[in-house]
Formats: sequence, C-alpha cells, structure tokens
Amino acid sequence: MRADVADLFEFDPGMTHLNHGAFGAVPRVVREAQDRARARVEAVPMRAFRDELPPAIAAAREHAVAFLGVPADSAALVRNVSEGVAVALEALAIGRGDDVVVSSHGYPTVTLAVQARGGSVRRADFGLSATAAEAVAALTDALTPDTRLVVIDQITSPTALVLPVAEVAAAVAPIPVLVDAAHVPGALPDLDVAALGVAFWVGNLHKWAFAPRSAAVLWVDPRYRDRVRPLVTSWSQGRPYPASFDLQGTVDPSAWLAVPDAIAFWHGLGGWSQVERNADLLLRGADHVATELGTAGQPSGIRHAPCMRLVALPPGVAETKEGADALWQQLYAAGFAVPPVSFGGRGHVRVAAQAYNDEDDYARLAETLVSLVGSA
Ligand SMILES: Cc1ncc(COP(=O)(O)O)c(C=O)c1O
Repeated sequence: MRADVADLFEFDPGMTHLNHGAFGAVPRVVREAQDRARARVEAVPMRAFRDELPPAIAAAREHAVAFLGVPADSAALVRNVSEGVAVALEALAIGRGDDVVVSSHGYPTVTLAVQARGGSVRRADFGLSATAAEAVAALTDALTPDTRLVVIDQITSPTALVLPVAEVAAAVAPIPVLVDAAHVPGALPDLDVAALGVAFWVGNLHKWAFAPRSAAVLWVDPRYRDRVRPLVTSWSQGRPYPASFDLQGTVDPSAWLAVPDAIAFWHGLGGWSQVERNADLLLRGADHVATELGTAGQPSGIRHAPCMRLVALPPGVAETKEGADALWQQLYAAGFAVPPVSFGGRGHVRVAAQAYNDEDDYARLAETLVSLVGSA
C-alpha cells in the first residue's frame, strides 16, 4: 500500500486492501465532515431540522448531481442503489404477472426485490467470453410479452465488466431499462447518463466517489419523473421531483451532507487522471497475478471496468460459493481483503485498484495465492 495515501483513510494497517469496489472506503477528512454535520445537528436539533437541514440537503443534492454531469432537476439523493431500485420498481408498479429481465452478472438483491413484490425474474445468461453483441442478444432473447422492465448493470459486481447499456436500451425499447450503476460514479469516465436511452439510473457515491455510506444518486428520465416517490412519505410530500426525496423526517442526512467533501477529496487525488493511474496499475497487477497463477490469457469479450477485474484461479479452486468463501477466510488470515468469486463454474479473485494501492500489493497477493492454491 502507498503509505502516504493509505494514511488518508482509517484502514487496519495489517491488511492489504484490494477490494475498494465492494464497500468503498471513507477518507478521514470525509468522515470528519460527516461528524461535523452530526455535531451541528446535536447542538440545536430544533434549529437543524426546522431551518438548516432543508437548504443544506438541497445544496448537497445539487453538488452530487453536478458531479454526474446531469441537470439539477434530473436526479435525487437516495441512500443506496437498493433504495433506488425499490423506487423504480414501485414507480412501474411491478408485481404479480410481471416479468423483469436481469443478467446472470446482475446483483442478487435486485432479483430479491422483484420477487418480494411478486414479480418474476427472467435471467439472461452469458459468459465471461461473450461479446457485447452476444450480451445484448441474451437480454433480448429473455424478453416475454409480460416483460415490464430490463435491469442491466453498467459495471457488473461479480465479474467487473462494463455492459453495453445504450445498446441494450435500444434493443429492448420501448420496454424501460433500469441501470444498476452502483460502481459507476467516480469510476467510469465519459459518462453521459442522459444519452443512454434508459428510464432509471442509480449509482452509489459511497463506492468510488469516497462518500460516507449511505449516499447514492437516482436519475430518472423525464417520462417517468411524475411517477417516482420516495419510499417513505414525509415532509417532502407534494414537492416536485427531485426535491420530493430530500426530507425524510429524522433520518440521519449526514452522509449526504458530506458528499461535497467526498467529491472534493476525489478531485484532490487527481480526479480522472487518478482513475487512469489506478486502471493502469490494475492492468499490470492483474496480469502479474494471472501469470503467477498460470491462468493468464482468459478470454474476455466485453471490456473490463477500469479499476476492478477478475483474475482466474487454477481449475478446481473456488469453483463453488463454499469454495470461494473458504478461500476468502484464508486470504483474510494472510492479510488480504480481496474477494474470491465463483462465476460460471470457475473460481476467480476480483482485484481492484485505488489510489492507495501499489504494485507490491499485487506481487504479494500473487505470492500468497500461489502458496494457498498452487498454480495451473
Ligand atoms: C452492482 C451492484 N448493485 C447493487 C449493489 C447494492 O448496493 P447497496 O448495498 O449500496 O444498495 C451493489 C453493492 O455492492 C452492487 O455491486
């Protein structure tokens, strides 16, 4: 780890952190900004809730939305992607008799959210070596006359791929598309949300944009804005979208209030040039791990996320969920926070790169993995 950058966080120094994507990591200055926001509320709660929080939340929302490069009236603050997904399912009144198409690379709780409402999930399967066109075809092949929504991840969680969202939206139109962009803010450059041709797009700020958990942005296409409501009816009731999501009673808004500090931290590290440095480090690091494991050259038809990617493990290793869980425990005991992933009957590790990582992290990971699982 690069000590000077890692010191800006509150990590356990005994661990090598190669999993930024999963939960993010909150820099100390951002956590302190959140603490200050909380302390300000505690000083005079009545003043805070009556006078200060409504304009402060609106300002934080506008800051967050500007970071994504979309108009101020197009996106609301929500607490996380799970909440944004629930809002979209509610807006479309998804329920019994409705099909929702997801991909085999999708996030499992999205499937649970659809099923909890009585909807059916149809899974479009495609492998790691599929091309973008094959992924689009798998999703369109899964449509039925009852399909009311297609959910597609812009950066997939288990496989760290950048899926062809705009192509999927064009291919399934007029069926609305919900983009699970949990990993996108601060991680995927050249983002143009409005040009994707989708109905809903929701991304976490607490992964790659350094916000405290829980902070996320829900963008909604103009055609659907009059249908979206916060899950909790409170003091914003009756206000137009996106202000309709701002005031949720006494829910703690401190993560939202610290978003401007998080974005300032992201810029302070170098913004997109830092992301480029991370992507370059990851490319070399992941190649090194794969070479040491003897699994280099795995086919991949769709482009990898810039700062997260899979490295295949030797055959027979972590091929099941139980195997992947057991390897996680071994890696943790050896001082690494990095997730093994079983996908398509094959074991992998998903490695990430953030500003606090350096080449030595991947070299030591490779050495540890070879000692734990051998090489192909
Ligand atoms: C692709 C994807 N979607 C959704 C989620 C859920 O995010 P949250 O738990 O913040 O709602 C995650 C979390 O890692 C994710 O990776």
